[in-house]
Amino acid sequence: MLSLILPTYNESENLPELLPKLEETLKGIPHEIIIVDDDSPDETWRIAQELGQKLDDVHVIRRVGRRGLSSAVIEGFLSAKGDVLAVMDADGQHDMDILPKLYSAIQEGSGIAIGSRYVPGGSVGEWDERRHLMSRVATKMALAVCNVKASDPMSGFFALRNDLFQNAARHLNPKGFKILLDLLVCVPKDTTVQEVPFTFSTRLHGESKLSRRVQIEFVEYLYDVTVGRYIPLTFLKYCIVGAFGVLVHLGTYVAASSVLQSGEELSLFGFRIAVLAAIEVAIIFNFYVNNVWTFAVSRLRGMAMLIGFGKYNFACAFGAVANYAVSSYLFSLGWVDLAAVIIGAFTGVVWNYTMSRFVAWKN
Ligand code: GDD
Ligand code: MN
Repeated sequence: MLSLILPTYNESENLPELLPKLEETLKGIPHEIIIVDDDSPDETWRIAQELGQKLDDVHVIRRVGRRGLSSAVIEGFLSAKGDVLAVMDADGQHDMDILPKLYSAIQEGSGIAIGSRYVPGGSVGEWDERRHLMSRVATKMALAVCNVKASDPMSGFFALRNDLFQNAARHLNPKGFKILLDLLVCVPKDTTVQEVPFTFSTRLHGESKLSRRVQIEFVEYLYDVTVGRYIPLTFLKYCIVGAFGVLVHLGTYVAASSVLQSGEELSLFGFRIAVLAAIEVAIIFNFYVNNVWTFAVSRLRGMAMLIGFGKYNFACAFGAVANYAVSSYLFSLGWVDLAAVIIGAFTGVVWNYTMSRFVAWKN
């Protein structure tokens, strides 16, 4: 049995054209169609429910409060009954006449069958040059980084054996659009992959949801599966913020000390005040940027943000002490001052990252 997933977001105009044709195409194949809609503002889920009343084999999942193509496909796959799973755009861009071929490829022993734009006989059709270039670059990057054997690992049109999916399910990364790439990475290396050429058409109605955000998520994904295994992305971002935080710290110190000095002289008291101001301004800067960027997924708002800020200050107090202690110890051993300061600051960053990760943003 074939379980076909149609992920949808604002496809209410396309479904009424697509479903009758699909039923016609799948006539000879035992199948179910699962529409996974992310609570589309145009009420695609309602249209799907109405169409489904006349068609026994159509099921609708309306997800509220969640967004994302990959996660919608995973959810559809998880709810499917068929021994063969497939996914297709719900906008008419994927040539549905290929579906029976993808299905029989799996029945004849392939683990995964891809509707491919990049094998002989396939093409991207009438894409503009910008989108075409974007797709080629993304495909090249994916192939360079991920060690998968497929010429179109970014295709949104494919079928696979249900048991392969079930075994991979816990390891999948539900961010973004690259569900096929992620499956290819997660299935056993000896899985047979077959590619069936097709020509990518233009959308019937509406527009693409492949946003800037989705593109950023793709690059983050490639980072996660390579360097990210050793240096987590959040740590890298934390270091970048920390580096700017050091500049903010220095800038604030220079400004504050110039206000506090009387004549040419800066008293010890004035120096301490300037350093304290610099530390606190840097803490506020770091907290703000880490909250909206580094830890954006678990971003704190309102009261939780104030509490998180309190905890962050507490955690940073130790970082500042660690920084101070290490750098003054190294300096006292006779190290060059700059080296001592840099190593001290690095100690502080590692300490602060650990504390923020496990105390302030632990969820
Ligand atoms: N449930 C859900 N949630 N569905 C979504 C979401 C979402 O957040 N975003 C997009 N979809 C649905 C769309 O409604 C459509 O049916 C399908 O997923 C693909 O989205 P499109 O917006 O049509 O993507 P595209 O045509 O620009 O991109 C195509 O090519 C990419 C590679 O070049 C797709 O086939 C992608 O899957 C493919 O990665
Ligand atoms: Mn599309």
